[in-house]
Amino acid sequence: MDNHITTYNQLNPAAEARVDALLAQMTLAEKVGQLVQTNPFGPFDRDHYDAQKQTAEENGEPFEYFPKLRHDMEDLLRAGGVGSFLNVTLPKAINHCQRLAVEESRLGIPIMVGSDVIHGYRTIFPIPLAEASTWNPELLEKASRVAAEEASAVGVDWIFAPMVDVARDPRWGRIAEGAGEDPFLGMAMARARVRGFQTTHLASGRRIAACPKHYVGYGAAEAGRDYNTTDFSERTLRDVYLPPFKAAFDAGAGSVMSAFNEISSVPATANPLILRTILRDEWQWPGVVLSDYEAVKELIPHGLAADLREAARLSLLAGLDIEMISDGYHNHLAELVESGEVPLELVDEAVRRVLRLKIAVGLFEKPYVDESLAPKLILRPDFRELALDVAHESMVLLKNDNDLLPLSPQARLAVIGPLANNHKDMLGCWSLHTHPEDVETVLEGLSVYLPDEAWTYVPACPIREDGPLDIAAAVAAAQDADVVLLVLGESADMSGEGHSRTDLGLPGRQQEVVDAVAATGKPIVCVLMSGRPLVIPQLASQADALLCAWHAGIRAGRAVADILFGTVNPSGKLTASWPRSMGQIPTYYSHKNTGRPASEAGTKQFAESFKSVYIDAPNSPLFPFGYGLSYTRFAYSDLHIVQPELGLDDTLTVTATVTNAGERAGAEVVQLYVRDLVGSVTRPVKELKGFQKITLQPGEKRTVSFAVPVSELGFTGLDMRYVVEPGDFKVWIGPDSTSGLEGSFHIKKA
Ligand code: GLC
Repeated sequence: MDNHITTYNQLNPAAEARVDALLAQMTLAEKVGQLVQTNPFGPFDRDHYDAQKQTAEENGEPFEYFPKLRHDMEDLLRAGGVGSFLNVTLPKAINHCQRLAVEESRLGIPIMVGSDVIHGYRTIFPIPLAEASTWNPELLEKASRVAAEEASAVGVDWIFAPMVDVARDPRWGRIAEGAGEDPFLGMAMARARVRGFQTTHLASGRRIAACPKHYVGYGAAEAGRDYNTTDFSERTLRDVYLPPFKAAFDAGAGSVMSAFNEISSVPATANPLILRTILRDEWQWPGVVLSDYEAVKELIPHGLAADLREAARLSLLAGLDIEMISDGYHNHLAELVESGEVPLELVDEAVRRVLRLKIAVGLFEKPYVDESLAPKLILRPDFRELALDVAHESMVLLKNDNDLLPLSPQARLAVIGPLANNHKDMLGCWSLHTHPEDVETVLEGLSVYLPDEAWTYVPACPIREDGPLDIAAAVAAAQDADVVLLVLGESADMSGEGHSRTDLGLPGRQQEVVDAVAATGKPIVCVLMSGRPLVIPQLASQADALLCAWHAGIRAGRAVADILFGTVNPSGKLTASWPRSMGQIPTYYSHKNTGRPASEAGTKQFAESFKSVYIDAPNSPLFPFGYGLSYTRFAYSDLHIVQPELGLDDTLTVTATVTNAGERAGAEVVQLYVRDLVGSVTRPVKELKGFQKITLQPGEKRTVSFAVPVSELGFTGLDMRYVVEPGDFKVWIGPDSTSGLEGSFHIKKA
C-alpha cells in the first residue's frame, strides 16, 4: 500500500505566510466569497442539452454535456464571490469556471470542487456498511484510493466522505453509509478511508481532501427517522459519536461536515460546543468546517433563527466556515461584519482555514484537470477486480445448516426473487452517477458456474410495491429443482438519506413467496440484499443457508456466485446487530448492564421475574455484532494474559490460539473485547478494543496477540474528562461479541 498520505492537520509556516499575504489583500466581499459553496449550473435545459449532443455527433466527438451556467456565475467567479462547488464532476465545466476564478479574478484564488464519493465514483464498491463488514481496513484504504483516483480524474479535489456516524438504529436509512454500531471499528474504518482518499501520487497529479461527516451524532436520530431530533448525554457524545471523527482528524482529514441534527437542542451547524470548544480548543484541529446541504438555512425551521441573516450570524459565530448551498453568508455576512454583529477576525479565521486547505491540496499549483485523463482511468480492470475483492469480503454468511453451501455445480437451481436479475439496486444508496450497465447481476454471476439450462429463473414479485405475484411459477420452479436460490431484499432507494423505514421485514410480498416455496420442502439458500440490518426471523428459520450480500456494487453478482459455489470462502462479520423484532430496536452489543440484568442470553419474562427483559422475546438480537460464519470452522484455545496486574502506563497483552479445524482455508476476524467491571460511571458490558483478520489453511493454528495500551481503556468520567480508572476488568478473545475465551486483569492504582 502506497504510504504517501497528504495530511492537513499540521500547520505549515510557509503556507501560513501565503495565507497571511492573501488575507491582507482581500476585500470583505472576497473573504465572504471563500465561505460560499454552491452549484454553478442553472436548471436543466433540454434544448441546450440536445443542441450540444447534436454538435458532438456531427463532429464525431465524444459527448460530455456542459450544462448551462447560472446567469450570474461567470460574474461571481470573476469577482471572487464563490469559493467551492458541490458535486460538479465535468472536467470541461470545472476548467472553464476555474479559468475565470484563477485568470480573471483580482487575486486568482482557485475554486475547490467537492463531491459525494461515498463508496466509489464510477467503480462502485459495496455500500459502506458492507465495506465495514470486511473488517479489513487495508482493503478499504485501497478502495478509497480507487475512488480518489477516479474522482480526481474528473476534477474533484474534495471528497465528502467518509461518513463516520455511529448508527444503532437500523430504521435509519443512513446506517447504510457508515461503519455500523461500534466506535472502535468506526475509528479503524475512518482512518483507513481518510488515508485512502488523501493518498498522494494520484494519476491526476492532484490531491484530495477528505471530509468525514456528519459532525456529530446524526445517527442518534430519534425513532430512526432521518433528520429527527437527537438527544444524548455529553458523555455519550464523547465516548460513542466523537471518536471516529477524532480518528479521521488524527489520520489527517482536512475538513469536516456539520450535521443537520441538534446536539442538546443546539443544531450542529451553530453549536459552539462542538465547533469551537471541542474542535479548536480541545483538539486544536485546523481544518475546515463545511455545513451540510442548506443546514444554515435549516436553523430557521429548527427554530434557532428567525431568518437567514440570524442563521448566518449564529453559524459563523459558532465556528462554521463554509455554508453549503443556502445564501446566508453570501447575502448577509458582509453586512453582519459591517454592523459589528460578527467580528471581522472570526471571518478572517474561517477564510484562513479555507485558504490553508486550498494551498495544502495543491490547487494554486495545479488548478486545472487533465480533460483527457478520465476516460483512460474510469473502471480500469484493476479497479473492477478490487471491487470484486471488497464484495467478496463484505458478504456475511449468517446460516449454513448441514453445510448446504457451497453449492454443487451439478445442482439444478430454481432462482427466485426480484433481485436476481437486477442491475440498478446493486449500486446501493449513494452512487452519485448511476450506471446500471456497469453491474454484474446474480444471474450473470451464476452463468460463470452453470449452463443456462441448469436453472429456472422466476422473479416472482416486485421488490416493494404490490405488483404481480407469481407464486405458482415460483413453486413450480422450486418443485422442479434440487435447490432453491432466493434472491431477496430491499431496493437501493429503501435506505440512504431520507429513506428510513418503520418495518424492516422483507419489503412488499416477498415473504409470501418464501412461505410458498418453503412449503415445497426443498432446500433453500437465500441471498439477502439490503442497505441495513433487516428483521427477518421467519425467513431465517425457513432458509437453510442465508448470505447477507448487502448492495454490493458493480461486481455484486459475480461475488455472490463465487461464494455460493465455494470459489471464495465468506469471511464477513456484522458491524451492526440484526434485531429479532422491531420492538427490540435499538439493540446493540455494547449496552449497559442496568441494575436488573437479564441472564447472559436474555430470556423471556416468565423465566426471570422483574429483570430487564421482555415478556415476549429474549434480549439477544437475531444475529449479533461481530457475527459471521465460514465454510470452515475456527477453534479458539489457550487465552493468555501476559501481565494480569497492570499500571496506567502499561500495555495489556492478551494472546489466544486460533485453529482452522475444517477442511478448507478461510479468513477469521479474531476480536478482542473488554469490560470495565466498576467505574465512577456505569460502563458497557463489552467494548471492542481490537480485531485481526487472519487466514488459516486447514489444520493450521496461530497464536494471535493483541496489545492494548491501558491508556485506551478509559472513558469520559464524572468531570467530562477522559480518564482511565484502576479496577477489575474482563477480557475476551473470540469470533463475535457473544462468545469467546474469557479472562480477567486488574489495573492498579497509580
Ligand atoms: C446531503 C447529505 C450529505 C451530502 C450533502 C451534499 O444532504 O446529508 O451527506 O454530502 O448533502 O450532497
